[in-house]
Amino acid sequence: MENRSLGRGRVSVPAVGLGTWRRLEAAAAAGRHRELIDTAIAAGIRLVDTSPMYGAAERLLADALDGKRDQVVVADKVWTASPEEGVVQLARAVNWYGGRVDLMQIHNLVAWPAHLPMLEAARAQGRVGLIGATHYSSAAFPELVDLMATGRIDTVQVPYNPLQREVERTILPLAEELGLGVLLMRPLGEGRLVRRQPSPAELAPLHAFGVTTWVQALIKWGLSDLRVHVSLAATAHPDRLLENAAAGSPPWFGPEERAYVLRLAGAH
Ligand SMILES: NC(=O)c1ccc[n+]([C@@H]2O[C@H](COP(=O)([O-])OP(=O)(O)OC[C@H]3O[C@@H](n4cnc5c(N)ncnc54)[C@H](OP(=O)(O)O)[C@@H]3O)[C@@H](O)[C@H]2O)c1
Repeated sequence: MENRSLGRGRVSVPAVGLGTWRRLEAAAAAGRHRELIDTAIAAGIRLVDTSPMYGAAERLLADALDGKRDQVVVADKVWTASPEEGVVQLARAVNWYGGRVDLMQIHNLVAWPAHLPMLEAARAQGRVGLIGATHYSSAAFPELVDLMATGRIDTVQVPYNPLQREVERTILPLAEELGLGVLLMRPLGEGRLVRRQPSPAELAPLHAFGVTTWVQALIKWGLSDLRVHVSLAATAHPDRLLENAAAGSPPWFGPEERAYVLRLAGAH
């Protein structure tokens, strides 16, 4: 898998990561959360994204990383309107992940002016590697742009898939200009884009790009915009990880193939 550089070259990470929203708990309910993380590591997936918003996901990830913490870049979040609770969330995460969170993001920009100085202090102490911010809604992108422009964060995490392309207008150009890492959430549209599958004949023109499934076409579509660094597809199924990881290697789609995938996805 191709490695890409996050946070102005400070962290190099394979281009396909793993999201945990609802899926790590689902894996745990089937007794498979350790197997999921082990299989991800074996498939070359080395960044796992989580949050206090995701129920027990942070704790389950810490449990699954027992003895393998150093093999994974942990991307966690602070998600609270309370500055005091933000301190508690960071301390808990630092404790769970062996004294350091590689990337700490401000989830959905909640109370970012309060959390940012706290995270900067933690970064100076080495308890946090990089600082980022996330938002799922284009309505919040002007505020995200304001935060990016402060020069105080290293990464952004935003939705990007054939049916959600608002980031192309301001977020991706600004991230490129500022040298910020970009993590892509919802590459499969929370699974919606996977429900209607193109036929094998429709996928045939993408075989030359190493793409044999529709999921791979969607993941490769996002990563073929080279302003993106990591695609965070989420799954509860270990057997799907190799398929997803395979989309993180070149050759990348050119403009023609990207336009073709848009058409297959029904995007206008
Ligand atoms: N505000 C924020 O910070 C924010 C917001 C949204 C998302 N995120 C992050 O981004 C991650 C990804 O977004 P997402 O989880 O919303 O959506 P997603 O990754 O676009 O889609 C996940 C869905 O795709 C399915 N899937 C994955 N691989 C598959 C495969 N090979 N074949 C068939 N189905 C497959 C999963 O089902 P199965 O489990 O059944 O495979 C799941 O239902 C999240 O988990 C989270 O870490 C952050």
